Formats: sequence, C-alpha cells, structure tokens
Amino acid sequence: MLETSSTAAIGLHGLVKSYGETPVIPGLDAELRGGEFTVILGPSGCGKSTLLNCIAGLERLSAGRITIGGREVQEEEPKNRRLAMVFQNYALYPHMTVAENIGYALKVAGVNKTERAARVAEAARVVELGDYLDRRPGQLSGGQRQRVAIARAVVREPQVLLYDEPLSNLDAKLRHDMRRELAELHRRIGATSVFVTHDQVEAMTLADRIMVLNKGRIEQFDTPEAIYHRPASTFVAGFIGSPAMNLVDVTGEGGVLRLADGTALAAHSHRGPAILGIRPELVVPAPDGLPVQITYREELGAHAVLTLRLPDGTALRMATALGQRGGLPTDLRVALPAAELHLFDPLTGKALASATPATQTKKAQHDHVPS
Ligand SMILES: Nc1ncnc2c1ncn2[C@@H]1O[C@H](COP(=O)(O)OP(=O)(O)OP(=O)(O)O)[C@@H](O)[C@H]1O
Ligand SMILES: [Mg+2]
Repeated sequence: MLETSSTAAIGLHGLVKSYGETPVIPGLDAELRGGEFTVILGPSGCGKSTLLNCIAGLERLSAGRITIGGREVQEEEPKNRRLAMVFQNYALYPHMTVAENIGYALKVAGVNKTERAARVAEAARVVELGDYLDRRPGQLSGGQRQRVAIARAVVREPQVLLYDEPLSNLDAKLRHDMRRELAELHRRIGATSVFVTHDQVEAMTLADRIMVLNKGRIEQFDTPEAIYHRPASTFVAGFIGSPAMNLVDVTGEGGVLRLADGTALAAHSHRGPAILGIRPELVVPAPDGLPVQITYREELGAHAVLTLRLPDGTALRMATALGQRGGLPTDLRVALPAAELHLFDPLTGKALASATPATQTKKAQHDHVPS
C-alpha cells in the first residue's frame, strides 16, 4: 500500500536563497541519494529550515535548480513535487479524529472513501496507532500526536519525506522511542527522507549521511562514522561529540607539536602552526605524560568529564571511566596518543589532509609525549 518510488534522488544545483540583501544559502551543491535518510545538521539560524522549505517548494529559490528523481521542480507547486513534510509544530485539527486527521489530505485530493479508509488504516498501522483511530488529538500523548503528524505525511505515499525537527517537543524517552520508530518506518517504506535537526544524537542515530551546515554552507556531507572519526573542519569537530573535541593551537617542529610556551604536547610529523584536535575520551592517563591539574570534574555516573589545565594554562577536557568519587588524584599525567590526533589549518579551519589519524604510522601510534 505504502510503496514508494525509493529512487527519487534530490539534486541541489547552485542553490541560492536570499532574504533581501543577505544570502542565507550562498550557493549550495549536493546530491541526496534516492531512498537514503539524509540528516541536515547545524546550529540555530544556519539555514536548515530554509533549505528544507526550498526543497518542499514553500520558498522560492533566488538562483539555482532542484531536481527530484531527475526532474526539475524549482518552478513547481509544492503539491506537484510528490513529497510530504512533517513540521516541527505539527498542528492537528482538534475537532477531527485521528483517522480524519490522517486522511484529510486524501479527502481534499478527492480520493474515494473506501480507498481512503484503507490507506489511513495502513498509515496508522505503520506508526502503530491502529487502535487510536477514533480518538481526538486531545486524548493522545505528545508522542502519539507526533505519530499522527507523521502518518498524515506518509499516507500520501510520497517519494520524498521531509521532516523539520519533528521530535524537538518530546521528552528524552519519547525522542528515543520515536527515533527508533522513524528508523523502522524508513526501513519499511524506503522513501527518500530529509530530516532537519540541531541534535547530534538524532543525526548520528538516524542518518545514512549527515549534511553539516554552517551559515548556509556545507561543512561536510558524509556518513555518521566519517563525520565523527574524520571531521573535515574544526566546525564539524567541535559540533559533533559530547563533550566536544578539544581544539588547541600548536606548532609542529622536529616531530613534536608544541604549545606557545614550548611545552611538548604530542609526537607528530607536522611542521608549522596548526590546530590540534583530540576527543576528550581519547586523552589517556600516562605515568610519563604531561603533568596537568584537574580544575573541574563533572561526575556523570558511568564516566566523568575532567577539565585539565596544561602547564601553559590551556584547558583540556578528558572523559574517563576512572572518575569514581575520590578515584583520581588532583594531579595527573596524561598523553595525547599520536594515532588519535586531528590537525586543522589555523587559517581555514579545514582538516590537514596529510595529518588525519588514518595516515599515522604504526610506530607513531605507540609514541608518547616526548619530553
Ligand atoms: N522570511 C525570512 N525573512 C528574513 N530572514 C529570514 C526569513 N526566514 C529565515 N530568515 C533568516 O534566515 C536564517 C536561516 O533561518 P532558518 O530558519 O533556515 O534557520 P534554521 O537553521 O532552521 O534555524 P533553527 O535551528 O533555529 O530552526 C536566519 O538567520 C533567519 O533569521
Ligand atoms: Mg529551523
């Protein structure tokens, strides 16, 4: 019933969107593969909703083209683009039942009553609301209402499903449950899905590929695994991961990366200034490492996050399972294993290709901080 054309790729070609003088999206090119779940991730105001609304046809492009399934759609009405959208504020009609809410668009489109009932029942089954068809929105929980909004989009059998922060009004447990249901729904119906969020956990768990947006530009568009392990810029490195990746100014010479005061921080072959990145969970205690002071500790149950002060005053965060109450000395020595280091260009913030962890040698992986 809910079979969709799962091959409707979305092409964004030289897409520009300005409101007045200011370009919110200054020129964006990307291919969203058919049948994939793409998450658009970025901070508030970076243009996520604007981009989604352009795909939906709710905003006119200032320049550029959009293709869906190879067909140019930028001049087409939203209703002719064979897509459906779930908004952040999923207003349901309070006086209509769940079934009437889900079926409303079909009714407007003139679908006959028998077919409508069958499609509504199927969509409700997909979001596990089959037993709630006669209820009104006021008699549902927030998560159930959210699922009505999703069913209302799905029932139209779109080639493309667009979601704008659809889970942001839910509590942590419901968000978790709904993430699982959305992933399952996607697996079943296979529509090309584009999901906007500023929540990195949603992005990491739902996406086939994540498009990280910063001021209307793509910082990186890749799998969650690549985004996490091979961030293309300091922006991506700092945006993904909790606590955020440490980013420290260093200078490399003679196989060593040093802080401004000359302190040797890590072994590395890079020469010249760079921004060194290391995830807090990959900073490790080492008897022969750098002496640091613990200036702050956050106990989070399973692990603790320590704020460390390096000899020159630079702060470094370390996530550790060793953080049981009283389990750590106030002074500690740590190492930054060479294999775990990321290096970025201090001017552009872009990853230095010659210095990604994957290119480190076996020997370097075993090097500790030289003195
Ligand atoms: N109709 C409009 N007129 C003028 N500026 C707008 C309009 N709509 C959005 N903007 C601006 O465009 C920028 C991007 O807005 P957009 O809503 O796309 O951000 P977003 O990434 O979805 O943010 P959020 O996470 O807060 O929803 C913002 O600076 C916003 O103020
Ligand atoms: Mg938005």
